Amino acid sequence: MNIEQQIKAVVRDVNDFPKPGIVFKDITPILRDPKLCDAIAEAYVQRLNGIKIDEVAAIESRGFLFGMMIAHKLLVPFVPIRKKGKLPCKTVQQSYNLEYGEAIIEVHEDGIEAGKNVLIHDDLLATGGTVEAAAKLVEKLGANVAAISFLVELDFLKGRDKLLHHSEHIISLANYQ
Ligand code: PRP
Ligand code: MG
Repeated sequence: MNIEQQIKAVVRDVNDFPKPGIVFKDITPILRDPKLCDAIAEAYVQRLNGIKIDEVAAIESRGFLFGMMIAHKLLVPFVPIRKKGKLPCKTVQQSYNLEYGEAIIEVHEDGIEAGKNVLIHDDLLATGGTVEAAAKLVEKLGANVAAISFLVELDFLKGRDKLLHHSEHIISLANYQ
């Protein structure tokens, strides 16, 4: 099985979570398979071949799971982008729309070096609002969004359209139509 088939074989569809009508993609079974986790991190390294990555920034909380693994494989710094109020030092913030209301994510202002090439990682691309906000944070700090990676992309929500003007390199290991 290729990596997409391996991921799809274990990701679980959970109906009506977190609310009625939503089919939630549960990635937790992946985490119980250390060989698959390693193969996933390796797959990102292969897909990123030829793209210069100086730092990996990942989004709380599920983005942290593979974001840190990718940074470790590439031997580059890891940068946590967190939900508002969790980071202790001076931050820059970005708001984004949720289905109902809005949310804010933030990053330490000394967490990303200006001019660096940053990989933004998250577990799942749905509407794209979360990662679009992360891309704006990276750019506010004067860095470049070199690539954006996901485990799972829900193609039918067209989140990719929000991201293409931030980076031409958008990598998803498992796509759902
Ligand atoms: C989920 C998911 C992505 C985001 C995708 O995170 O992990 O980060 O939503 O949605 P979007 O493309 O429509 O913005 P969530 O905010 O549920 O939090 P979690 O990662 O802490 O579970
Ligand atoms: Mg998330």
